[in-house]
This record gives sequence, structure tokens and C-alpha cells, in this order.
Amino acid sequence: MAEERPLQIGLAGLGNVGLGVYRNLARNRELLRERNGRDMEIRRVVVRDLAKPREITFPEGMLSGRLDDLIEDDEIDIVVELIGGIDEALDFVTRAIGKGKTVVTANKALLALHGKDLFALAEERGTMIYFEAAVAGGIPIIKTVQESLVGNNIQSIIGIINGTSNYILTRMAKEGLSYEEALEEARKLGYAEADPSLDVNGGDAAHKAVILASLSYGSWVPFDQVHVEGIERLGKVDLQFARDLGYTVKLLAVIKLIDGDRIEVRVQPSLIPSTHILASVNGVFNAILVRGDVVGETLFYGRGAGQDPTSSSVISDLADAATASCRCGFVPHGLYGKPLPQEESVSQYYLRLQVADQPGVLAQVAGILGRAGVGILSMIQREAGEGEGAPIVVMLHDAKYGVVRRAVAEIAELPCVHHEPVLMRVERLD
Ligand code: HSE
Repeated sequence: MAEERPLQIGLAGLGNVGLGVYRNLARNRELLRERNGRDMEIRRVVVRDLAKPREITFPEGMLSGRLDDLIEDDEIDIVVELIGGIDEALDFVTRAIGKGKTVVTANKALLALHGKDLFALAEERGTMIYFEAAVAGGIPIIKTVQESLVGNNIQSIIGIINGTSNYILTRMAKEGLSYEEALEEARKLGYAEADPSLDVNGGDAAHKAVILASLSYGSWVPFDQVHVEGIERLGKVDLQFARDLGYTVKLLAVIKLIDGDRIEVRVQPSLIPSTHILASVNGVFNAILVRGDVVGETLFYGRGAGQDPTSSSVISDLADAATASCRCGFVPHGLYGKPLPQEESVSQYYLRLQVADQPGVLAQVAGILGRAGVGILSMIQREAGEGEGAPIVVMLHDAKYGVVRRAVAEIAELPCVHHEPVLMRVERLD
């Protein structure tokens, strides 16, 4: 029997990940051919700037400056979208699907905001969108949720799913770097998004959380219903207080099924016990705890960003497309679908205040919390530094987020409170 022609790939974008895909596909091409029973070949690569000097030499005619060259080429079976951003990527992917091409994308923002329509279009056109690289870099979490855990009701997914922010928190906590220094390092290492504000403001993790929640619960979670907070306001002092209290601060994505029919999806810096395995996930590493009603608790760990790990996931999608062995599109099943309003979500909290060192301050703070019905678990006060008041940390009992937020807003208005309070959840991981 004649061997099938090599699968023809059009690569859109030659940034950090695109370069990794090109290199690693070349490196393991023979291995992939043997495993898949089909060869894969990059036919054309679209770059933003054709004149830019490059580390590798491409075959004559392979580089192009036009995305249309991929869409219009009927020989191309699969387009790999690695251009990032929303508008241009949406137009490109929509047109590629319209032409019946298979799409592989690492673009979590695109899927979080437009996944519902794109998957519906792909279904209509009888083609596929693969997106393993969109969540948690090199960790195969998409296929895990879709395939390996398909026999489970997913009860919760709790994860560290932004490598850049985890890198920053780790470097601040362990090496004493400032926030800005740590962010600059993450940028240089190629972990950060083109717009790194998405890494630190929780937006990137929220995009990924929408994808995981939607896959788990069968209807596309609206991005605007995800509660998102980032790490920008945290100081080294918060990481130290947390450590002294026996906790570690992580930017957590939390996806939970509540009372059997509501979905909670949120991204927030949170305190987790330092003895918990997630607390030892450092640097660019991501980790995701998935709890299913059949399997119980599972944990997935690996590099969440960077050229090689992310390209490993892209290549796995290409291999799936080559063998067409799995259904990796989004299959709506509508079993659940009501997002839990964030205000109703319950947890314990860490509240740091910078207050005037004068009598009656604690009574005022405790009074507001007491009237709101929020109990105090414990409290620490340090001596006042020069001109900045005294830091106090109040650990709060289980309470609804809305109630705590209103009480904290009232506390922030007290004349004795100097800076905007820092409020973090203490995440229950059991
Ligand atoms: N900027 C992202 C991160 C890249 O730091 O996790 C992977 O999505």
C-alpha cells in the first residue's frame, strides 16, 4: 500500500513557541513518523517581519509575510496558530476553519473569548480545533480532562496555571527579588505573554480556567463571569506574613462544582498550607489538582511556559491530527452551566492592613468585621516602620466573599488605615 503523503502544516507565527515547534518537529520527525504512521512536514511559515535576522536558515520560499498564503494553499491540511492576540487570530482561525482546515492553536485568550463560536463553526464544517498548548504549557491537561478522565464527574480543578506569576512569587519569596526584577527575569526567559500584564493581573490564568471549566462542565463559561485578581498588589511583606503563618501564596485558578449544579470559576492570589504539595510548585512550573468522582484526586505537574514545553503540546496536537484518533474539539453536553456568583463563594481569608499605631484601631477593625458577621481566626501585629504605620494581618473565618469584600471596603475608609488592604483567600485544598 502506498504511504500517505506527509501531512502538510502551515505555521502562523515564529515567536518563542513557533520556533520551538519548528525545531522540535525537525528533531523528532522520524520518531513521529514511526509512531503515527504518517510523516508531517512544515510547508510554509508566516512571520510578521520577513526582513528580521533569524537563528536558523529556512528553505527557499518557506517564509511568507501573508497569513492568506496558508489559507489559500489547498495543499495545507493543518494551520498552527501561534500569532497570539485576539482579532487577527480570530479572523485567521475562522477563515481557516471555513476552508475546512484543521486548526492547532495555543491561543487561550482566543478560545476563552470566542471558543464557543469557533467550536460550533468547526463542528459545522466537519473540522477540528486542537489546543493542548493553550493551558499549562507542557502539561497534557486538555487531553487528560477530555480523554483520560472522561468517565468522571469533575468535582474540582485547582491549579497554578500561569508560569510567569508563579515565577515572580517564587523569586520574591525565596530570593527576595522585587516584583519588577522578577517580572523582568520572566520576560527574558520567554515565559511572559507579549502583554505581560495578562500574566500578573490574572487574565491569562482566567483564560485557561475558562477553557478547563468549559471542558469539564460542558457549556462554555462566559469570561466575564470569572472573578479575576492578580498578584500586582502583593508585597514581599505578604509573602513573609503568609510564611510565618504557615502558608504560601500562589496565584490559584479554582474551578469547583458547587451543590451539584453551579460552577465556581475564579483566579486569585491565595494562601495554601505550606505543607501542601502545591506549595512546593516553584518557578515556571505549573501544577493542577483534578478531583473526579471516580478517580479521586490526581495531580499534574510540569513546565507551564517556555519554548520547548509548549511546543511539546503543539506537536502532540499535530500528532493527533495526523492520526485523527481523538476528539479534541469541545463537545457541549449541558449538564451543568450556572456559574456561581463570586459574592456567594465561601472561604477563609487573609487580610493585611497598614494602620496607624494608635489606640482603638483594632477595635474599629474588629467592630466592622463583627457587625458584618465575619469571625476573626487570629491576628498578628508588627511594630510600625518609619512613616508607614503598623502592618496587621487578620485571619478570617469562613465567610461569603461578598460580605467580606463589603466589610473590607468599609475598613479601607477608616482614617487609621493607610494603604489599600490586601485580601487573599485561604484556599481549602481537601
Ligand atoms: N505567559 C504564560 C505563562 C505562557 O506564564 O504561563 C503559557 O501560557
